[in-house]
Amino acid sequence: MNFKNLLSRTITAFLNFKISRKSLRRKSYQKKYGMSLRNWLIYHQKKIVFDKVSWMGLPVWKNVLDAWIYQEIIYETRPDILIEIGSKFGGSTRYFADLFELLRHGMVISIDLDRSEYRLEHDRVKLITGNSSDPQVVDQVECLCRGKQVMVIQDGGHKKNQVYQDLLNYSPFVSLENYFIVEDGIVDLFHYGDGLGFDTSGPLDAVEEFLKNHPNFVQDESRERYLLTYNPKGYLKRIS
Ligand SMILES: C[S@@+](CC[C@H](N)C(=O)[O-])C[C@H]1O[C@@H](n2cnc3c(N)ncnc32)[C@H](O)[C@@H]1O
Repeated sequence: MNFKNLLSRTITAFLNFKISRKSLRRKSYQKKYGMSLRNWLIYHQKKIVFDKVSWMGLPVWKNVLDAWIYQEIIYETRPDILIEIGSKFGGSTRYFADLFELLRHGMVISIDLDRSEYRLEHDRVKLITGNSSDPQVVDQVECLCRGKQVMVIQDGGHKKNQVYQDLLNYSPFVSLENYFIVEDGIVDLFHYGDGLGFDTSGPLDAVEEFLKNHPNFVQDESRERYLLTYNPKGYLKRIS
């Protein structure tokens, strides 16, 4: 074999190698990334959300696409107070408090009945420990919110009755053009045992009932534009 032939065979072999590597990569990419949005939500729930999402080192039980939308809402509406129902570790609480710190405005009132795993101290956080349905807790929040611009994020109890109670108790505090966000309605769109579903009625059912009786709130679907939200019909905007 002369030098010219050898060179041409080497170049052809190299190009074939590159092409086959490329199609191999494409194949494995397509296999991994060809999953449906539904399967992604199950994957996220089973493998990501409970131990691989954090903010400044604290666990956050959220889909980060929703967390990004919260940041946009907070920036746009500049509430004086965000009522968070359900603090857990304080990771989400810190996320909101840090956003308020960046804006040099606003604070979080974070309610939880269990402080055993909570690990945050922050100047822009006021903690209330108790059941969100307890009239004394609601009264305390009412005092703090008087005359303020307020939004609410409900991430406490996820059964329909609890979410509905929270909607009734805390929606009157929400200011015009601001939001009551109900988290995790996604569980009502899955079935028990398939990775995300509950065995009882949950947040989405509560929202649907609430909206029927409260025309002063509407679903803001634009906040669900990433599609992969945990809060279908959960971005409730106060319009009157
Ligand atoms: C899903 S975790 C909150 C997660 C947190 N917001 C985050 O994103 O990381 C729910 C929390 O709500 C609390 N909770 C459940 N029912 C409640 C109620 N009725 N009142 C107050 N807190 C409640 C639980 O103790 C738990 O810490």
